[in-house]
Amino acid sequence: MIGRFVVLEGGDGCGKSTQVGLLGDRLRGHGFGVVETREPGGTTLGDAIRALLLDGDSVAPVAEALLMAADRAQHVGEMVRPALESGAWVVADRYVPSSLVYQGLVRGLGIDEVERVNAWATGGLEPDLVVVLDVDDVVAEGRRAPQADRMEREGDGFHAEVRAAYRRLAAERGWRVVDGTGAVDVVSDAVFAVVAPLLGASGATDV
Ligand code: TYD
Repeated sequence: MIGRFVVLEGGDGCGKSTQVGLLGDRLRGHGFGVVETREPGGTTLGDAIRALLLDGDSVAPVAEALLMAADRAQHVGEMVRPALESGAWVVADRYVPSSLVYQGLVRGLGIDEVERVNAWATGGLEPDLVVVLDVDDVVAEGRRAPQADRMEREGDGFHAEVRAAYRRLAAERGWRVVDGTGAVDVVSDAVFAVVAPLLGASGATDV
């Protein structure tokens, strides 16, 4: 059995973390081994990097990009590759697409530069599928935690730019956009519908 690598993406408050858990459960229900992870974080070193990135007040954009990439290098080496090699599926809450959107476009560092650093950090590991949960700005605002981290404290303009950047790159790169506005189980069905073709010859049906 070959592991598949699925990444859920979207702006802050889009509901990805909930959907990562639900997708993991559904895949387990089909008999697959599943590892759920998140970035930044997901490893001991990554959790420390996450605190540096999100708890502080000021992080220069290039430092932000490099810390995200450092976290990712650890995450790929320690968790993602070993899981895929063992035949498990990996369902990740964010991956390289987050850096292309947040650091490359919204922070203005440039897609090419950020992509090069990330190709080095990941050894070129590409996901099998990227799913972007698209949620309108008012709904996303309502879903963001009251204890906002450094990124979540950015203004409405920042979050609108993040959303636009995801939509643009999704169109250019074949990322699948799913409407994340509805009820949790409706969105979960929609996410599973785009993941299901990867189940391939296992003959799985929707659960
Ligand atoms: P996330 O874990 O999704 O936030 P939360 O758990 O609070 O919902 O992501 C943390 C923040 O880090 C989010 O604002 C997006 C940002 N981020 C980047 O800017 N670049 C990246 O490469 C990654 C992985 C995250």
